[in-house]
Amino acid sequence: MVREKEFAFIDQSYRPTSNDLVCLFRVTPDGMGLKEAVNNVALESSVGTWTPVSSNQKYVNKLGAKAFAISGNWVKVAYPQELFEENSISNILSSVAGNVFGMKCVKGLRLEDIKFPKKLLKSFAGPRFGIEGYRKILKVKDRPLVGTIVKPKLGLKTKDHAKVAYEAWVGGCDLVKDDENLSSQKFNPFEKRAVKTLEACDKAAEETGEKKGYLCNVTAEAMRMLSRADLLKELGSKFVMHDIITGGFASLETLRQNCKLGIHAHRAMHGAFTENPNHGLSMMCVADFARMAGVDSLHIGTGIGKMRGGKREVKEIDEEMESKKVGKTKHRLAQDWNGLKPVFAVCSGGIYPGHVPYLMKNFGDDIIIQAGGGCHGHPHGTKHGATAMRQAVDATMKGETLEHYGRSHSELMEAMEFWGKVRF
Ligand code: 3PG
Ligand code: 3PG
Ligand code: MG
Repeated sequence: MVREKEFAFIDQSYRPTSNDLVCLFRVTPDGMGLKEAVNNVALESSVGTWTPVSSNQKYVNKLGAKAFAISGNWVKVAYPQELFEENSISNILSSVAGNVFGMKCVKGLRLEDIKFPKKLLKSFAGPRFGIEGYRKILKVKDRPLVGTIVKPKLGLKTKDHAKVAYEAWVGGCDLVKDDENLSSQKFNPFEKRAVKTLEACDKAAEETGEKKGYLCNVTAEAMRMLSRADLLKELGSKFVMHDIITGGFASLETLRQNCKLGIHAHRAMHGAFTENPNHGLSMMCVADFARMAGVDSLHIGTGIGKMRGGKREVKEIDEEMESKKVGKTKHRLAQDWNGLKPVFAVCSGGIYPGHVPYLMKNFGDDIIIQAGGGCHGHPHGTKHGATAMRQAVDATMKGETLEHYGRSHSELMEAMEFWGKVRF
């Protein structure tokens, strides 16, 4: 039997190598000292359990995680990449975000970020299209893309759903998407919706001379999801939409392997485990896994709309999604993305035209700006709402204030009068 020394999973003299996956945790111990709790986290998330076991072998010890940096309750743990199956997010999560979140030794455990080693990272597909690919499909060179979500989010019959989408496209939206909780309910079944809404998409594209895209939600049991994606491809769609948390990462990977369309990722339910600052998994980790699995666009928050998530957090996630390499910050580890394509960041949730200058100032032009209520809630309806959103983007691209541009663009002016000016 190989005896384990006390705190065998802590080695502060260790320096991580290019072979290691590194996790940045914040550990709040319960009923014991910090070091003991850290040791428990490192062992349970790698090769150990609560007691030494007679079946252990020396070669297994070499695969143990090492907590190598402890500063306050911020802790970095290195894991040899041999611990993980390649191209499997579920497998990585079951180790570094598995049992550890339910252990009595921690009052709180927060996984802030993960740095992935090159070989493991390169086993993932990454985005098929990413920012450049979306821009090519939609023939939009440098401005932010404008999108909407069909509202009301549930309940509209297919005919009305397609009509709302059509008005948004002709008004100026590049993209129209389903909402996260629309899949194939009786009032708006998937097949019928796909056919009718894509017909509306083609009609709007022809009338406006612009490319238009429909992000139709295929989330379902894996086989059903794939047949939905196949139908969209047959109908000429360039995109699908997937709820990556409720659908699950394995389901997302199945979609990426089997479907050649652009994947728009909705993050509904992430707040259940990302919002508690002392416990759970950060949105940064979700975004990392989404880029690895191969989404082309991902909701990351707005810093200003109806959803939680401050400017600093959203900005760091935006950089993480679109950069080739990112440097470390207090909340983030450095990462070289090793050629995995950049993901289009989607700012959505409570957005209206007045927010557009803030979003472009803070997150740049490589974003998709989406407004549901802020489009269909326009006093003169969806078409005007979409036009106002597009005018807000055009004004900001030209360096003009919305107030000034609104003087010669009535849809924007009406939106500004209706929702008021945004100060930031
Ligand atoms: C589990 O999967 O439930 C744990 O690995 C339990 O392991 P333990 O009995 O060694 O704590
Ligand atoms: C989303 O899916 O991001 C929301 O449905 C946004 O809707 P809202 O713009 O009306 O908040
Ligand atoms: Mg929604």
